[in-house]
Amino acid sequence: MISTPQAIELEQYYGAHNYHPLPVVLSKGKGVHVWDPEGNKYYDFLSAYSAVNQGHCHPRIVETLKNQAEKLTLVSRAFHSDQLGRYEKYMHDLFGYDKLLPMNTGAEGVETAIKLCRKWSYEKQNLTPEQATIIVAKGNFHGRTTSIISFSNDPVARKNFGPYTPGFVSVPYNDLEALEQALQEKNVAGFMVEPIQGEAGVVVPDDGYLKRAAELCEKYDTLFIADEIQTGIARTGKMLCVDHENVHPDIVILGKALSGGAYPVSAVLADDPVMECLRPGEHGSTYGGNPLSCAVAMEALQVIEDEKLAENAEQLGAIFREEMNKLVEQSDLVTLVRGKGLLNAIVINDSEDSDTAWNICLQLKENGLLAKPTHGNIIRFAPPLVMTEEQLYNCIKIIKKTIEQYEKTAV
Ligand SMILES: Cc1ncc(COP(=O)(O)O)c(C=O)c1O
Repeated sequence: MISTPQAIELEQYYGAHNYHPLPVVLSKGKGVHVWDPEGNKYYDFLSAYSAVNQGHCHPRIVETLKNQAEKLTLVSRAFHSDQLGRYEKYMHDLFGYDKLLPMNTGAEGVETAIKLCRKWSYEKQNLTPEQATIIVAKGNFHGRTTSIISFSNDPVARKNFGPYTPGFVSVPYNDLEALEQALQEKNVAGFMVEPIQGEAGVVVPDDGYLKRAAELCEKYDTLFIADEIQTGIARTGKMLCVDHENVHPDIVILGKALSGGAYPVSAVLADDPVMECLRPGEHGSTYGGNPLSCAVAMEALQVIEDEKLAENAEQLGAIFREEMNKLVEQSDLVTLVRGKGLLNAIVINDSEDSDTAWNICLQLKENGLLAKPTHGNIIRFAPPLVMTEEQLYNCIKIIKKTIEQYEKTAV
């Protein structure tokens, strides 16, 4: 068996250094817990960036994965499979869109939505060829491909990766006036937005923002595209985050928890007038829509429904924020808690380039809870949605204790 230091050393030596993980090695997971090779047990409060909403190694998802893996894993789209159509209908029934386009990773889903939006704008809206723009929000995170980082305003994501893909305009997040102004420009094809900006530090827009943004897109005949890769699949207390405002985006992008963390599965949902703009040969992926992914996704979604995980996220999220607000009142170190459902973050009272949040996460790890800073002084808290109320209170205790310990040592 490999030890924690050995595993870290191997990664350090043989792996690209494109991440900066917390110094913990995980070798087993079940539900809301993960274990390191030495047998130490932790609460997972990140859920692989909201991919493991159904909990680690959910028995029903693992069983489905195993069964399908023994039958058929990949056919490519050169042939039909007995799973893809079933999955597409399942998604239609669940989300109410005419059609689904299956992909693998979140970034691929976003790329797909961009291509679809551009194609629709030329074929259905007669925009000037090659001139379509898509409006995005400042502070966005939609993935890591060259086109996607082209419209990021995070210098770390962009620097030295140019030349960048043109065709994107960014407006401040949660600013409807700026959005409307941008929509009035020529050749706008769509507006793509995260219903909550997860990577930016769980930035929640004002109530009504998403609804009004969708209405504005309709008014100006452009597509409203919701990137629900992090916020979707019950994370915020509804199946989709836009459901909080009864919005039906023209395009929805899903990923992460679509498979419960068992397999990379992403999907783009749209109605016929948009989806029919893609014809054979114009887009695809060898693994996209493979039978294994279809079977896993259907089971992962059925688990969300059967175990009422959206409702659980809603209830536990309210408790979590209430308790964190008490902490904000008591502590000088935590200035704010924000979020929806079980996608939350606390803001640490220090500068964005300080290592305070990182050090608090190290201390949380020592106390048996794993979380990670996002954007310097913000710590995201996003446990699996299968958490019980009792477990949540245990975790709240750990967080409060850690903050107290940290405050004492910092004095
Ligand atoms: C909102 C959003 N979009 C897209 C992505 C990219 O997904 P992936 O890492 O699977 O490419 C992420 C990942 O964190 C995300 O949070």
